[in-house]
Amino acid sequence: MTQHHVTVLGGTGFVGHSVVRRLAEHGHVVRVISRRRERHRDLLVLPGVDVVQGDPRDVALLAREFEKSDTVVNLVGILNERGHRGKGFADAHVHHVAHVVEACKKSGVKRLLHMCALGASEWAPSHYLRTKARGEYLALHSGIPGFHATSFRSSVIFGPHDSFINRFAGLLKLSPWVFALACADSRFQPVYVEDVAAAIVTSMDDRYTYGQVYELCGPRTYQLHELVSYIAAQLGLNTRIIKLNKQLSWLQAMALEFVPGKPFSLDNYKSLQVDSVCSRGFPKDFGITPATLESVVPTYLGPSVSDSYSGFRHWARRS
Ligand SMILES: NC(=O)c1ccc[n+]([C@@H]2O[C@H](COP(=O)([O-])OP(=O)(O)OC[C@H]3O[C@@H](n4cnc5c(N)ncnc54)[C@H](OP(=O)(O)O)[C@@H]3O)[C@@H](O)[C@H]2O)c1
Repeated sequence: MTQHHVTVLGGTGFVGHSVVRRLAEHGHVVRVISRRRERHRDLLVLPGVDVVQGDPRDVALLAREFEKSDTVVNLVGILNERGHRGKGFADAHVHHVAHVVEACKKSGVKRLLHMCALGASEWAPSHYLRTKARGEYLALHSGIPGFHATSFRSSVIFGPHDSFINRFAGLLKLSPWVFALACADSRFQPVYVEDVAAAIVTSMDDRYTYGQVYELCGPRTYQLHELVSYIAAQLGLNTRIIKLNKQLSWLQAMALEFVPGKPFSLDNYKSLQVDSVCSRGFPKDFGITPATLESVVPTYLGPSVSDSYSGFRHWARRS
């Protein structure tokens, strides 16, 4: 296998940790650009990995770092913005990708692996999904001769340190008897973080993946209330889940939008109006049999978790 020099943006996040570790295991030289280098020293113990302090909005910095690379992986993304007008989403998902593409052009990098999201579309109801679609378009249509991007659209991703399963686990521990669930019938096909990371890393050298968009899902579709019941059962809780109707779901989103850390927002509510399920099975190109939720979640979630507030705090810190 060719040794690559890879710059990873968003490499300090949940998916980023798995991607960076996998790249290091394959002997690639990895540079992660982070706005808060000091918080991510854990990555430095990986062979061939360096974490560079910098803001990904700085095109000059990106171009300088990309000059030392032949491949860029872009995993930057946010689920909620600080304001309410879509500017934060546009910055993280659209302007950022424009900067990445410009820096690729300046530095001569020809390979970009980009993380989008399932359901992203110009016509989607949420800022999150619309801006994700625009960013993906920029990545795939750079106009740079000989430039090859590949985009990955995944459903919700699970694994130790995820923000989805851990978020609900934290909330369930705060409300263990009765739980009011918005958008309870929304459909998901959760996919394991290691399967996502494997697909991204495998695609790097595979010319067949150039210009492609891959949907990444796990083997089973669930409604949100089924997932929350499953999480409660894993925690040893016998929680009564109350499915809120559309109006109450909207009201809950409106109210929680103003809670610090935004446990749920109007934009999340709008995203949940679109099913997050794949049109076909895990792409054959990667030779991966996707892991089931049931085979992984019990390894990091269980009644033995001692600090009942830890999941919520962990998730709130990341939002
Ligand atoms: N997790 C999921 O279930 C899921 C599902 C579908 C798609 N995705 C997509 O997969 C990608 C990775 O997700 P993740 O769960 O790993 O996210 P994450 O844990 O929140 O990590 C994202 C990383 O991006 C960087 N970042 C965040 N906001 C930024 C901003 N405004 N400007 C620049 N950098 C910023 C951060 O790095 P620094 O703070 O170190 O700079 C952070 O470590 C994202 O594009 C996300 O939209 C995730």
